[in-house]
Amino acid sequence: MSTCPFAFYYRRQIAAAKAKTGNTAARSCVEITSAMITTTNLCKRYDSEAGPVVALDSVNLHIPRGQFTAVMGPSGCGKSTLLNLLAGLDRPSSGEIDVNALRPGAMSEARLTEYRRRVVGVVFQFYNLLPTLTVGENIALPALLVGSPERQASARAESLAARVGLAHRLSHRPHQLSGGEMQRASIARALINNPSVLLADEPTGNLDSHAAAEVLSLLEELSEEMETTVVMVTHSREAAAIADAIVHMRDGRVEDVHVAGAAG
Ligand SMILES: Nc1ncnc2c1ncn2[C@@H]1O[C@H](COP(=O)(O)OP(=O)(O)O)[C@@H](O)[C@H]1O
Ligand SMILES: [Mg+2]
Repeated sequence: MSTCPFAFYYRRQIAAAKAKTGNTAARSCVEITSAMITTTNLCKRYDSEAGPVVALDSVNLHIPRGQFTAVMGPSGCGKSTLLNLLAGLDRPSSGEIDVNALRPGAMSEARLTEYRRRVVGVVFQFYNLLPTLTVGENIALPALLVGSPERQASARAESLAARVGLAHRLSHRPHQLSGGEMQRASIARALINNPSVLLADEPTGNLDSHAAAEVLSLLEELSEEMETTVVMVTHSREAAAIADAIVHMRDGRVEDVHVAGAAG
């Protein structure tokens, strides 16, 4: 029995890959879908009373598996909009998003909820921890939401809390923590279901330089340990310096992609 709610999508993807190549080897599918994230002519328009706002204007991105990508650009250029679309928190106006061979933009609400819980982990600038839950409960919550037994979810939450340096804070409430500690708890929460993709929107934007450096090292180390693809919006040069690639955006468009180590 398959327990993966996306087995249907993967089967369809494999069938499509076989049809395209005429090759029945499973490898052909892996090659075709080796990008973790692809966006094709991705557009997002907001219709407000003041008139339409084009937040994303035909964004084409190709992010390989395991890559750590920083997204930079002036305020209002569409960075959060892009992240929200990848996270399945909002839907595109047109164009396509592929994340690990899934199409969140075209999913039913029920499948999109599953996608948000299992495929992506999200870290926000202001942590978004639930104030009435303890740190341990906050971290364990996404595991409980996908049906993990309580004991298993707490054990995993404890081990992740220890990994982010919060073993001694498990029973504390978020308001008893420093900003850096809250962000480390939110990283643990984002990773508890082993997501394929970690999305972080200015994760160090509210932290002092010491806490920011700690959060960045954790993101870098954990994404490597857990083989997670990371897309991080940031204004910080230090943050961008740890990335494998930097996507520069302006006015809803990708202006330039700079790959670390490449000439120029
Ligand atoms: N819900 C919304 N309704 C109307 N306009 C929006 C909405 N969300 C974002 N925008 C507009 O879309 C553009 C991109 O916003 P955003 O993605 O938040 O930019 P960034 O994260 O780069 O600062 C901005 O002009 C912003 O005002
Ligand atoms: Mg933003």
